[in-house]
Amino acid sequence: MKQDMIVILDLGSTENTVLARQIRALGVYSEIYPHDITAEELKALPNVKGVIIYGGPNHIVDGERIDVNHEIYECGYPVMAVAHELALCSQKLEAFPEDEEKVMEILKKFVFEDCKAEANWNMKNFIEDQVELVRKQVGDKKVLLALSGGVDSSVVAALLIKAIGKQLTCVHVNHGLMRKGESESVVEVFRNQLDANLVYVDASERFLTKLEGVADPEQKRKIIGAEFIRVFEEEARKLEGIDFLGQGTIYPDIVESGTKTAKMVKSHHNVGGLPEDLQFQLVEPLKQLFKDEVRQCGIELGLPNDMVYRQPFPGPGLGVRCLGAITKERLEAVRESDAILREEFKNAGLDKKVWQYFTIVPDFKSVGVRDNARSFEYPVIIRAVNTVDAMSATIEQIDWPVLLKITDRIMKEVKNVNRVCYDLSPKPNATIEWE
Ligand code: XMP
Repeated sequence: MKQDMIVILDLGSTENTVLARQIRALGVYSEIYPHDITAEELKALPNVKGVIIYGGPNHIVDGERIDVNHEIYECGYPVMAVAHELALCSQKLEAFPEDEEKVMEILKKFVFEDCKAEANWNMKNFIEDQVELVRKQVGDKKVLLALSGGVDSSVVAALLIKAIGKQLTCVHVNHGLMRKGESESVVEVFRNQLDANLVYVDASERFLTKLEGVADPEQKRKIIGAEFIRVFEEEARKLEGIDFLGQGTIYPDIVESGTKTAKMVKSHHNVGGLPEDLQFQLVEPLKQLFKDEVRQCGIELGLPNDMVYRQPFPGPGLGVRCLGAITKERLEAVRESDAILREEFKNAGLDKKVWQYFTIVPDFKSVGVRDNARSFEYPVIIRAVNTVDAMSATIEQIDWPVLLKITDRIMKEVKNVNRVCYDLSPKPNATIEWE
């Protein structure tokens, strides 16, 4: 293994991830583990150079003070305790000072002088380590991966291809609700450029049939999710001798569910819900990376910028942007207007600035004029928002000329549309998506 590691023991501080990031910023790898890790488990981790116990005000759970296993103090690693009065270690801090520079000084001293860690955390080493670990885990067995084309699944695919080549089978299910050109680019990059074993399933008709006449957003989501699992399962059954399932789980997925549940797999966009007889062992080589590190990893693995810096896209895809019961006509209008919006945002340099931007087509029409005659057609709504965590969001104040150009193009190029609106609502009270 190439990288030294500092272990952070989680006593409930919300700042654990900040601390992990600060240590990684020093060039030293850091991971967070549950407070009740045993000495044996700690010793089994590769290249541990030191331990930080980070208490904070939350280490009282249900009225009881939680503490680390005292045997970990005897493992021989330098231990620093922060805001944790019970600690038996040499280095003890009341709290990290407010001043970021001072925090970095303290960390530097601990990491480099006390722990004698080397600053050898970088993407190249990370990839080499993960390639080695994946090869060890998988041996000569086969791995299956649902490749949506999103950042996480694309990066995990590229990493697994590097590690085990054709032992990996990627399945890309096109549910017909992808953005323009998206499935094509998955095929181009993974099958043609990276020479992956890629099964491409065009299930568009199947999804649209299932969704026919369904107007309720939650019902639409359920149908899309369930159908996705069904299609994936059918493909998995056609393949023989698969033992492992690759997943694009990343660090926030794990941390958000609490370190005590670190083994829990987020079923959100991954393939949860497979039947009992199709249970696989998981391969999750990105599970220690933050989102920006996943992107760096993708770039290091040679994935195209557009794929690695892709904006967030909901699992149900354009299905929740074609409001109400989906029709082919309106789905096409969403897809085409979205493609224009993306193109013009790129031309204006907004693609690097705005967090998420897309179009929506509602299920009502308004009156207009086309070729000197009355028209009765759909509106397109543009939405462009900025956020840190998607819990709240503000709208992007786009320059008028850009909006006017987009409007002009949508009017000219998108069928069945006679009106363009810009959504000015922040979250709350609105949500980012309309459904
Ligand atoms: P809302 O609309 O809740 O969106 O403000 C917050 C973020 O979540 C995305 N989103 C989804 N992602 N499946 C997903 O994978 C979904 O069903 C879903 N609904 C919303 C949305 O695009 C935004 O980034």
